[in-house]
Order: sequence, then structure tokens, then C-alpha cells
Amino acid sequence: MVAIDEAVTVVTGAGSGIGERTAYEFADRGASVVVADVSVEAGRETVETIEADGGEATFVEADVTDGDDAAAMVETAVDAYGRLDVAFNNAGIDGELAPVVDYPDDDWDAVLDVNLSGVYRCMKAELAQMQAQDGGGAIINNASVLGKVGFANSAAYVAAKHGVLGLTKTAALENGETGVRVNAICPGFVDTPLLRKGLDEEMVSQVEELHPMKRLASADEVATTVTWLASDDASFVTGEAVDVDGGYLSQ
Ligand SMILES: NC(=O)c1ccc[n+]([C@@H]2O[C@H](COP(=O)([O-])OP(=O)(O)OC[C@H]3O[C@@H](n4cnc5c(N)ncnc54)[C@H](O)[C@@H]3O)[C@@H](O)[C@H]2O)c1
Repeated sequence: MVAIDEAVTVVTGAGSGIGERTAYEFADRGASVVVADVSVEAGRETVETIEADGGEATFVEADVTDGDDAAAMVETAVDAYGRLDVAFNNAGIDGELAPVVDYPDDDWDAVLDVNLSGVYRCMKAELAQMQAQDGGGAIINNASVLGKVGFANSAAYVAAKHGVLGLTKTAALENGETGVRVNAICPGFVDTPLLRKGLDEEMVSQVEELHPMKRLASADEVATTVTWLASDDASFVTGEAVDVDGGYLSQ
């Protein structure tokens, strides 16, 4: 694959949190970044920040629940920069907190649609482009520690994230010889607007305690794992689910 400082990257959900910080990390390393988000205002702000720092970025409004938007997102990268080297499929939502027996069906559908089917739709478009061009590519899907273990009252989120890991491994197997590496990351709880929206201060303290490092991850700590997986430093890594979890899964 081309070096990161020449790479064309797409980041979904790049208007906030982990996606936003990862877009900055790619841009800081010299990559061109297609900033994709359903929120036009947030996505445009990310592009403005990158450009103000001298980086290269293009915004595309894309809702990952729409396959046409996913295809248009990849087309935006090709139209603007001629190819697509790296994709970080990150857009996600949290959903209601409720036991399975009471879980609202609408929330189940919404969370699966964004967090699992959204990754599938984006990967479909990204893989078609990466397989067709010289040099392959790298795809990184944002799962969670909750892609590996359960978490009470979060059935839809946990099921979707487990699904992302299965999807990642399957696509990695299919692409072993195409030059496209496909990996996932499994962050512990990360200090982002998504987390702060769902938890009050007391709950944040309880969640910090779940990590042996007794704190939340920063979005930057996740971003640097993504840029490593995207780079040739990870050239023999595919089908992996890399934990960025302060020890959460080691207990
Ligand atoms: N924050 C955490 O503790 C944590 C932990 C592990 C994994 N994750 C995962 O990281 C990812 C990002 O989470 P975050 O905490 O940065 O959240 P966030 O809410 O700060 O950012 C999510 C971004 O995704 C966008 N988005 C939402 N739905 C979309 C859609 N349908 N199409 C396109 N964009 C959409 C939002 O507009 C927003 O800009 C999610 O997949 C989440 O499950 C988060």
C-alpha cells in the first residue's frame, strides 16, 4: 500500500469523537481525508480544522444506513483524489439501555442498521474500489470491547459490535490475496460526546473503574491505533480485533 503521507483515507462519523480525532491524526501524517458524516455541520467543522492546520480534506454528507450514500462516499474519494487507500468505518450510535425482555424494537433496528449494516454497506463500496485499483488498501472497523463480551442492558449495541468482528474476519479471509487488509479495533470506554451524552458523572466514575487503568481512553489513543493498522507497519496484520482497552478484557 502507499505510505500514509500519500494515502487517500475515508473516515465515517468524522464529525465527532473518535472519528474526528482519527481524521486529524491522518491529516497530521499527510494523508488526504474524506470526512463523511450524517451531520453536515459537524463534518464541515472537521474539514475546516484540518484545512486551517494546512491539511487536505473533503466533506461528504453520508448516512451509513443508505447504501447509495456509502457508494457516493467512495466516489467522492476517487473523484477528489483518484483512489481510496484507507477506510475507517467508525460511525455509530449507542441505543437505549434496557434488558432484552424490554428492549424497544425500534432501537434494536436502528442500532443494528447503523452499527452493523452501516459497516457492511461501507465495506462493500470500499472493497470494490480497493480491489479494482493497484496497491490494495486497508480497512479498519470500529467495534468495541463489547464486540467480545456482553454488557447488561445494551443488547443491540453488543450484538452489533459482535457482528462487526464476524464481518471483519470474513472480509479479511476473502481478501487475503487481494492486497486489502481488514481489521477491527475494540476500544474500552472512550471520552467522547457519545459517552458523555449517555452517562452522568457518577456513571462515568463507575465505568472508569471497569478498566484496570482506572480511566477512560482518550479519542487520540484510539486514533493512533487506527493509523498504525492503516500503515505498512501492520503489513502482516489482517482479520484482527485489536483491543485498546486499558486492560478491560484481561480481567
Ligand atoms: N465512546 C466510547 O466509549 C466508544 C467505545 C468503543 C467503541 N466506540 C465506537 O466508536 C464509534 C464512534 O463513537 P464516538 O464515541 O466517537 O461517538 P460520537 O457520537 O462522538 O461520534 C459519532 C459520529 O458518527 C456520526 N453518525 C451517527 N450516525 C451516523 C450515520 N447513520 N451515518 C453517518 N454518520 C453517523 C455522528 O454524527 C457523529 O459525528 C462508534 O462506532 C462507537 O460505537 C465508542
